[in-house]
Amino acid sequence: MWYCKVAGCRAAPIVCLYSAVFEMNDPDVFILKTLLESDGEYVSGSDLAKALAISRVGVWARLEKLRGEGFEIDAVRHRGYRLLKEPVLLHEALVRAYLERIGCDADVVIRDQIDSTNTEAERQLANERRTPFVVVARQQSSGRGRLGRRWHSPDEGNLYASFAFRPNLPPMQMQTITLWLGLQVCEYVNQAQGIPLRIKWPNDLLANGKKVAGMLTEARVDADRTRDLVFGIGLNVNGDTQQWPVEVSSVASSLAALKGQEVQISKLVAELTQVVIRAYEKYISGSFQEGFLSAWGKYDALRDLRVSGILRGREISGVARGIDRNGGLKLELADGVIEVVHSGEISLGSGQMSRAATSDPVKA
Ligand code: BTN
Repeated sequence: MWYCKVAGCRAAPIVCLYSAVFEMNDPDVFILKTLLESDGEYVSGSDLAKALAISRVGVWARLEKLRGEGFEIDAVRHRGYRLLKEPVLLHEALVRAYLERIGCDADVVIRDQIDSTNTEAERQLANERRTPFVVVARQQSSGRGRLGRRWHSPDEGNLYASFAFRPNLPPMQMQTITLWLGLQVCEYVNQAQGIPLRIKWPNDLLANGKKVAGMLTEARVDADRTRDLVFGIGLNVNGDTQQWPVEVSSVASSLAALKGQEVQISKLVAELTQVVIRAYEKYISGSFQEGFLSAWGKYDALRDLRVSGILRGREISGVARGIDRNGGLKLELADGVIEVVHSGEISLGSGQMSRAATSDPVKA
């Protein structure tokens, strides 16, 4: 709910739209935020015109422009305007309207096209941009994945985002940051989208055994400090899985495919930004530790499954038993001994790598 910001005034929306002009930068953001906050009620064109200090025809022209960008806006004479549908693709002013609506004043850089959001975040860090900030793009031409792989990112319906921070803490203290942030994203998607997403150690989010998101954290470390850190996430949102090659669609999915309907991507970006920035603050304060391991247990995609990984250069296989406090994956070997794997790829079953989690759970 938006209220008048004039000192002491608690007038409800619309009544006091006029004062909002003092805070306003982008008229589209203001119009969209007002339409979002009206909760399906009509917003009067003359109130918008007054608040924006433009004519009613000017308001109409702006709404026409927004319609051209994919919004469906209902207009009724003597009542005003009402938002019916948002664009399927990421829309900058709408992201900013949602951010304002949830009270998140994060610094967000939004691009239609970019080489890699992680690379752009690194450039911005090198240019001394204040942290935290997030770079979001509709498409990437050189998206990067883990272990030197490419992250194929031509699909405009998906999310490519990189969050930048300057932790200034010893690297040892940053060991579990990706697991923690990934877990928070996983929990958010479960709660906000009602999709049973699970986290696969260390950096993937899966649903029904198919990959829905991948995360890549890159950091610059001085002698004893992590100077800056970029947490990148590629999340399949509204990507059309029917158009994907079968070798991809057999192992990967999107939120829309799982939900059976389009996801409001601009809203998701705004909410995810708030989730990740809050989660980072909790991590830095150390308060994340309380409940971290139990939350991991709740969303762990590998829990009690037979998996194999690499330990001291040798492949080992065992039953996944969650993570330890340092973020290592605990594997119970055939003789009952627990070994901890700290890095690398984990495959399901014993033997060949499989990206889709189709193995049956192993009875403990
Ligand atoms: C993986 O599963 O290999 C991790 C993929 C990470 C991809 C994201 S997309 C946004 C950000 N920018 C990049 O270039 N990579 C990450």
